[in-house]
Amino acid sequence: MCGIVGYVGNKKAVDVLLEGLTSLEYRGYDSSGIAVNIDGKVQLFKAAGKLQNLKNIVEKNYAEISKSTIGIGHIRWATHGAPTVENAHPHSCNCGKVAVVHNGIIENFKELRERLEKNGCTFRSQTDTETIAHLVATKFGEVHNLTEAVRLATKEIEGAYAICVIHQDLPDTIVATRRNAPLVVGLGEGENYVASDVPALIQYTKKAMYLEDNQIVTLTPNSIELIDIDNNPLKQKVETLPWEPVALSKMGYKHFMLKEIHEQPDVVRNVLSGKLRASDEKVLLKEVTLDKEKLRNLNRIQIVACGTSLHAAMVGKYLIEEFCGIPVDVEPSSEYIYRKTITDKNTLVIGVSQSGETADTITAVRQAKSKGSHILIITNRPDSTMAREADSLVPVNAGIEVSVAATKSYIAQLISFYLIAIYMAEVKNSMDLKELADLKHELIILPQKIEKILAHTEDIQRCARKFSGSKDFIFIARGINFPTALEGALKLKEISYINATGYTAGELKHGPIAMLDESMPVLSILMKGKVYDKILSNSEEAKARNARMIALTDSEDEKLKELFENIIEIPEISEILSPALAVVPLQLLAYYIAEFLGKDVDQPRNLAKSVTVE
Ligand code: G6P
Repeated sequence: MCGIVGYVGNKKAVDVLLEGLTSLEYRGYDSSGIAVNIDGKVQLFKAAGKLQNLKNIVEKNYAEISKSTIGIGHIRWATHGAPTVENAHPHSCNCGKVAVVHNGIIENFKELRERLEKNGCTFRSQTDTETIAHLVATKFGEVHNLTEAVRLATKEIEGAYAICVIHQDLPDTIVATRRNAPLVVGLGEGENYVASDVPALIQYTKKAMYLEDNQIVTLTPNSIELIDIDNNPLKQKVETLPWEPVALSKMGYKHFMLKEIHEQPDVVRNVLSGKLRASDEKVLLKEVTLDKEKLRNLNRIQIVACGTSLHAAMVGKYLIEEFCGIPVDVEPSSEYIYRKTITDKNTLVIGVSQSGETADTITAVRQAKSKGSHILIITNRPDSTMAREADSLVPVNAGIEVSVAATKSYIAQLISFYLIAIYMAEVKNSMDLKELADLKHELIILPQKIEKILAHTEDIQRCARKFSGSKDFIFIARGINFPTALEGALKLKEISYINATGYTAGELKHGPIAMLDESMPVLSILMKGKVYDKILSNSEEAKARNARMIALTDSEDEKLKELFENIIEIPEISEILSPALAVVPLQLLAYYIAEFLGKDVDQPRNLAKSVTVE
């Protein structure tokens, strides 16, 4: 949700900024801009639409712009004000000396704006960010020190923000600060960087410092100074980044999404590595630090998450209830935070988030933490804001996920839930040992089954081509695969904009069946197990209303050919583990439909990978 990048050093700043913004495009892509200092003047270059539009502007003025060795850049996902050039960042004050980029929302911007307007400031945009530019400029006029001006300004700002500021009179200084929005400083030799996220830095440096809330950093080419909001100097904690630049390449695939789908067998191996060694050994999960006695006595678990992570959480509920007999509630974080949630120190609260930066989930987790609950975070970003709230931190090790539509992080979250549920069952001694051993064996061989699906995608491609003209799409399933139906539908709507919905197959007859006719595809997730026959009957009901039936199944029953127009067959798998396999063809189906329709697969309209506003 907006990406920011800053550079000061000896390189052409514009090159670093544009490369940085390219790697942050997953955070938003509806407008972008940079501010540089050319011959002692701060100059802004901005464009509405995709980053390429900004790149085109820069190209035309490259000789001039590339003179600057300092700059800040921004890629936007609009909150306040439409994605126009005027509203694109950076924003500037009236004298044009200050430039600011911002990620987040300034909640008291209306009051600030009114006050600043009374004092003579003229606003050019509808954004909340412009208030910061005027406020910093006003403070700078009083104290003649940029760090102090930013510090004083942040004392008046309410809300969430990560900001970077430059001033015309200080051609080698960037000041940056954050509150509830991520910011990381990259340390170089004779140069320094700052960005919303690591991908903007890893091609330049592996030395980084994560900023904490209310810390203010002042960067010059040869120095980094860190203070808190009360002006106390702070010690810097420099870390080595685990990422490799190659993680950001498509490796020959047409889209990141396809590459990430194909990475899933290795992702499963990574998640299991060191935690599940053999079917007759216990799961090792030292990441779960909850005292074993407390774990045995837990009487309730709540899971909070958004989007795809919410679907993984729904599978998690099913597993924990089934294996451990502990009641589990799953709730979208955005709902959890605005009602009286009953939680206490005997409740385990699990937050699930690929990015670890989703504002709704961070707030939900903090709310539960304040009531004394043990907080377990499942995230792909152990360096994230949410991870820092964790009492138990379970990193999912999916590697960096670039495509906005989550795929490999979902499977990694699912596998993490299998491990957590098995671990809990082993601590509680609540499950049959033979059943546990069988499941562990199946988990270990799961990557091979995913590989089989990935090696033969022809049926899925055929199906995608055939149904790509559909305006609507229904996915049905029951039990543990209901979340798979929701996830299949979500993938399809995210990247192809087809109106897709997941239903529990049993609910179809209670309303949705009214929509069925010969134009409606209904995809049944028909995995062998206790609800197989039920879903089959529900599919018959849909067929009787002329719906176009597709089956996703591990059954080889010849009779299915009479009922289903298309059958996507997958390797046989136990019902309990089937969500981790059945989702793969659905990801591919969504991918090929979107690709066939010529959609922007990796950067679908209106979405951002990481949503840092509530
Ligand atoms: C955004 C993304 C979704 C994602 C959701 C939750 O809406 O577009 O793909 O599932 O955020 O993100 P998280 O990082 O918390 O898993």
